Amino acid sequence: MKAHKTKVVERIELPDREAREANLDEAGYNVFNLNADDVYVDLLTDSGTGAMSDEQWAALLRGDEAYAGSESFAELESAVEDVMGFERVVPAHQGRGAENLLYGALVDDGDVVLNNTHFDTTRAHVANQGAEAADCPAEIAFDADADAPFKGNFSVDRAREHVERVGAENVPVVVLTITNNSAAGQPVSVANTRDAREFADEIDATFVIDACRFAENAYFVREREPGYEEASVASIAREQLDYADALVMSGKKEGLVNAGGFVAVRDPDLFDRVKQRAILFEGFPTYGGMAGRDLAAMAVGLREAVDLARVRDRIEQVRDLGERLRDAGIPLYWPPGGHAVYVDAGEMFAHVPTEEFPGQALVCELYREGGVRAVELGEFAFPGTDRPDLVRLALPRRTYSREHVEHVVDTFAAVADRADAISGLEVIDEPEMAELRHFSARLQPV
Ligand code: F0G
Repeated sequence: MKAHKTKVVERIELPDREAREANLDEAGYNVFNLNADDVYVDLLTDSGTGAMSDEQWAALLRGDEAYAGSESFAELESAVEDVMGFERVVPAHQGRGAENLLYGALVDDGDVVLNNTHFDTTRAHVANQGAEAADCPAEIAFDADADAPFKGNFSVDRAREHVERVGAENVPVVVLTITNNSAAGQPVSVANTRDAREFADEIDATFVIDACRFAENAYFVREREPGYEEASVASIAREQLDYADALVMSGKKEGLVNAGGFVAVRDPDLFDRVKQRAILFEGFPTYGGMAGRDLAAMAVGLREAVDLARVRDRIEQVRDLGERLRDAGIPLYWPPGGHAVYVDAGEMFAHVPTEEFPGQALVCELYREGGVRAVELGEFAFPGTDRPDLVRLALPRRTYSREHVEHVVDTFAAVADRADAISGLEVIDEPEMAELRHFSARLQPV
């Protein structure tokens, strides 16, 4: 059931087929190079692309732009304490800024960081400290068809193997990413959070939760974990986050804002160290690279994030997209995640070899066919890593209607009808850093 109605609208347009062809060619078959105006339904990311509520827009006007001691910061502190249970908060301009503050304070050269699955920027910040980012996903995370409730879980067994390999003294941090973005947006159970916490205690590591999509995760717990059927999303979120020593948060997800993030910690010493780094990299610790008005909007957004009606509407829309695509015969990772549906392009375009990027070929066809923008997360984005050739359809929060979802499904059906005629792509120009090539490389059909 819809938990909002529309108050402000933005005009969108589907360019005609000829224009879409030309745009694609001009963009070098890389949808990051498209003008957003030329995109009809934009499923590139759920990060910073959602709609704010009227209450958030009102908060923007009341934002306090004081350099130090801003009232908007106090509002954020109180929201983080009420919603997430942490008293010590340091804002940052977005999630990766928060990662830089926290991991820079906790991780040293030669260390190993364990995570159910590192998101790309997390991995990069761990590497930037000279440390190794080791993933510990549950075995079932790799089974695209297993309809299991918590495929995002942390594997304590895998984590133990890493500790045996490098020694507990070299593992300062254990991270739990909820939901697990790099494992198809799958949730993590409260029971698994408790196990991961106990494991971190056992090896004397700091236990961090990447809480970007904490309310979506709590909704799945309510739906799927025995004993939580009657609990509120707010109380489940609090219970799960209570296990953590520290949080990293991208406000662009379930802060329900277009920019912002923060670190939250319990330990006063760690708080001081993070604040010192904030002054160096983000700004004075009562604004941390954010405008006062954005702090105010994020404070309101965090409270809205755990509203059951809001998050139910959200999860149901993503699930509806997944179910409609599955009914249309599109091969998917199952079940759909909290923020996105993941399509198996390797299976859909089985005739296109991995070296010719079946995922990127699908991304281009979706734009050509229906002006839909998705993102490739396979061989093109992560060269040589043996990842399955998945394409992610991430839904911005509170933005699109059922008609948009139907348009995406119709677009897929049309592409699937002529799948055999679609060819792969080759890279003709790429930047020096292979890790970043999917943001700017240019390609052409083979
Ligand atoms: N952690 C997770 C789990 C994320 O999904 C992201 C961003 C970040 C950290 C970094 O946050 O973008 O505010 O700096 N994910 C976006 C995505 C970019 O499209 O999945 P950020």
